[in-house]
Amino acid sequence: MNTVNSSVRDGIEIIAISNPPVNALSHQVRSELVASVERAASNPDVAGIIILGEGRTFPAGADIREFGRPPKAPWLPEVCNRIEAVQKPILAAIHGTALGGGLEIAAACHFRIADSNAQVGFPEINLGLLPGAGGTQRATRLCGVQPALDLMLSGKPINSSKAAEIGLIDEVAWRDLLPEAESFLRSRVSRSEPVRRSRDAWKDSLSGVEAESALLNCRKSIAGKPHALPAQIRIVECVEAATKVNFFDGLAKERRLFSECLASPQSSALRHVFFAERKAAKFPGMESASVRTVREIGVIGGGTMGSAIAVACLQSGFRVVLVERDAEQLGRATRRIDAVLEAAVAKGFLPERKKSEMLASLEPATDFRSVIDSDIVVEAVFEDFSVKHRLFAALEAVAKPDAILASNTSYLDINELGGSLDHPERFLGLHFFAPANRMRLLEVVVGDRTNPDTVATSLAFAKKLGKIPVRSGVCEGFIGNRILTAYREACDLMLLDGATPFQIDGAMRGFGMKMGPYETMDLSGLDISWSRRKRLKLARDSRLRYCGLADKLCERGRFGRKTGMGFYVYGENGESRPDEDVTSLLEEIRVETGCSGRSFGNEEIRNRAIAAKVNEAAKIIDEGIASRPSDVDVVEIHGYGFPRWLGGPMKCADEMGLGLLLANIGEYAKTDALFWEPSTLLSKLAIDGSSFDDLN
Ligand code: 3HC
Ligand code: NAI
Repeated sequence: MNTVNSSVRDGIEIIAISNPPVNALSHQVRSELVASVERAASNPDVAGIIILGEGRTFPAGADIREFGRPPKAPWLPEVCNRIEAVQKPILAAIHGTALGGGLEIAAACHFRIADSNAQVGFPEINLGLLPGAGGTQRATRLCGVQPALDLMLSGKPINSSKAAEIGLIDEVAWRDLLPEAESFLRSRVSRSEPVRRSRDAWKDSLSGVEAESALLNCRKSIAGKPHALPAQIRIVECVEAATKVNFFDGLAKERRLFSECLASPQSSALRHVFFAERKAAKFPGMESASVRTVREIGVIGGGTMGSAIAVACLQSGFRVVLVERDAEQLGRATRRIDAVLEAAVAKGFLPERKKSEMLASLEPATDFRSVIDSDIVVEAVFEDFSVKHRLFAALEAVAKPDAILASNTSYLDINELGGSLDHPERFLGLHFFAPANRMRLLEVVVGDRTNPDTVATSLAFAKKLGKIPVRSGVCEGFIGNRILTAYREACDLMLLDGATPFQIDGAMRGFGMKMGPYETMDLSGLDISWSRRKRLKLARDSRLRYCGLADKLCERGRFGRKTGMGFYVYGENGESRPDEDVTSLLEEIRVETGCSGRSFGNEEIRNRAIAAKVNEAAKIIDEGIASRPSDVDVVEIHGYGFPRWLGGPMKCADEMGLGLLLANIGEYAKTDALFWEPSTLLSKLAIDGSSFDDLN
């Protein structure tokens, strides 16, 4: 099958790239595109050429799947150079998303016109890369230093009006792209206008003081970031080259720095995450499932989670019925919703009119029978099994027969919760993360009796909400919170052995986590995990060493930020400082438990903490709770602040080597054999010389 189709209309050759879904510039596309362009260039019946994308979009970039494999000629930079060198006018007619290499093809054409809904941009930085097919040199020449830096360093696309304003495109097609593109090109052809190459474009501003200071400011800001990507500073170097050296020397520099970035571990990790996010949404066993129409969502409980879930649903165009216990709680819930929407209006993210429309789609209620027409009912009441159990029994009696019943529980057993329903096949867990209107992760917890239609409909609902859904089986805490428990346990063992919470938080932040484990607990409230520990106390294996520091803090009313004290002490403006009393309490615990403190280096702290996550995750995968290692990475990155540029814990483990990881666990097991029991899967992979990636 061809990936490039050509047709000639009255002297204009239309070259259409056809490589669904996003017209990525694979080896086949590159070969056929350059051949088609050069054939048209040598055809005396052709006066001008239009390049466009068939289907959804102009090319959305190089084919990312080819990175890491041996490169095959013609390379994209060469394709761009050969297009630019043609003597007949070439116009890029852009619709959809012209991104990365796609925009570089457009920049190599002699003219650019874009549909009014089109978006253009250089998202390479999100993959730890820089535009590597002349983009840094041509775009800087077309639109100037600051706009080029903004585009390449942010990775965010801009709309066609903005692109025209900065000179990246020539015209916006407001009505119909192809006829307007043809008329644009014909008028140039009829005037015998010479071709205009981006490589020859020059703005005086490129060599001015403003350009110098834009480059300097970027350098400073990157130097101030603790975990800047190598690609960030390389982009600045390439843009600077565009202002200082000739085009072809600039291209050579860009090529060299692109290859460096491509070989960096950060780029490998970010590309892994790009595909992991997309794979996560592909649940096994959905082939023949049917998706029901969802218009109205019932949300029961309008506390922290319920009100934010309601906002997420309203933002995505659903009607929402929000049920609270009484009028007072309902008033609080609706004020919370109003405050979130008002903040969005104040920041300019939400037009006032849209806010009014959203509030008009919200039906506040104090009677749970109001969800009688809801297609999905999400429960977000207190984390108490009997409260939730009673609620679902009552809900089943009033909900539509085909309505989906979902619990937002963080830890409770979905099989038990849905077990006594008449129709457990329509029950599942939808575990949102706080704040639910902003966090993209959604664990879709599939019970033993949940049917595929319920899962498929929930999956479609998640996508409509703009979430990244990850499938989880049933266990205490599902994927994310179960790993979190093991991580905290490993950190607590280090507390017993001599580390402090402040040191562990610092080490984990230094590693790249958004927050350390103890400051995170202070933020979410120590009382929540305290009540869970009390619930699970009897089930806990008494042979495991236990650090009761958090319990002791709770007994003293130190519940974290909300009480001004937890592991840290908080000032009036929320600033935190470590507390001597916590260190003394810890000393007491060490004496009581007979632990002698020793010193820990940051590296040992990180190794133990990440090993705990990976070992637990491997058990979760082995038990079939997570479908694949890359799903764990997605959960950790989107729900628990794991650095994206490290690719998630499973990718980190692969990078470290599973043999070494297993040896470390063996070492840790010398003091805590029960906790550090290696996962069977991890041991098997390490012995076989395999990696987690082999299971993705
Ligand atoms: N290469 C290969 N596959 C790609 C791709 C690419 N550049 N972009 C998207 N895909 C694939 C996805 O993996 C997915 O495949 P799947 O269906 O098998 O899971 C499919 O296309 C659809 O993608 P999305 O699910 O993301 O579709 P959306 O409609 O949500 O989004 C998009 C479309 C905005 C184009 C989004 O896919 C995207 O942002 N793509 C990446 C764009 C990008 O990073 N381009 C730069 C690449 S690097 C480059 O060009 C280097 C150059 O400078 C040399
Ligand atoms: P919350 O205490 O802030 O809110 C619970 C709300 O439910 C209260 O407003 C209460 O009035 C209401 N409620 C209780 N019984 C009710 C009933 N029978 N009918 C109607 N409303 C009722 O609790 P939060 O934090 O919102 O948690 C809710 C659920 O979400 C819990 O299961 C929790 O484990 C889970 N969760 C919490 C997260 C968090 O970060 N807070 C994250 C993910 C899940």
